[in-house]
Amino acid sequence: MKSKIAIFASGRGSNAQRLIEFFKEHSEIEVDCLFCNRKEAGIYQVAHELDVEIVYIPTAEFIEGKELMEILNKRKIDWIVLAGFLVKAPSALIDLFQGRIVNIHPALLPKFGGKGMYGDHVHNEVLKLKEKRSGISIHFVDENYDTGSMIAQFQCEVEPDDTIDTLREKIQRLEHKHFPQVLENLILESRNKRD
Ligand code: GRF
Repeated sequence: MKSKIAIFASGRGSNAQRLIEFFKEHSEIEVDCLFCNRKEAGIYQVAHELDVEIVYIPTAEFIEGKELMEILNKRKIDWIVLAGFLVKAPSALIDLFQGRIVNIHPALLPKFGGKGMYGDHVHNEVLKLKEKRSGISIHFVDENYDTGSMIAQFQCEVEPDDTIDTLREKIQRLEHKHFPQVLENLILESRNKRD
């Protein structure tokens, strides 16, 4: 049986799109469905175009968790991927999916993480502090923001003339290039251990 991923996102959904496309013909892994806590988010368009089911989950329901966990159980979800999902995962969910919840963060953690550090806020800080490098962090999720153990990081240079727009673009290029592959390796490795 294929390993099933559920992707949680609150925004545009470009990473979700990459992941859906990457795993489309995969023999061992599939993106089963998407969850979104904002009704007007761009990810609905992605779901529609790529014909993947999307479930609206109000933030309060995500935090409360009972109904969500029933859906995840029923759909036999193996992995949860947070791709721009701006709510902290409740401990019941973390317990249920021990070591199988992965987040992507648009900077080199442990710097530039924590509450309120998302999207352009992160890039803004990186530029403000004149960092020479930024990048992406793919990590397991624990009960705090951005502190779970690291799976992989990839770097890019920050040039003196970079702006929020150019830096955001560089980071997204890294995310789209590496995230699917890192997840694939992680999931296949865990399947091999299990078999
Ligand atoms: C990404 O930059 C990711 O690192 C962060 O949220 C952003 C989501 O972008 N956690 P998108 O919605 O996938 O385009």
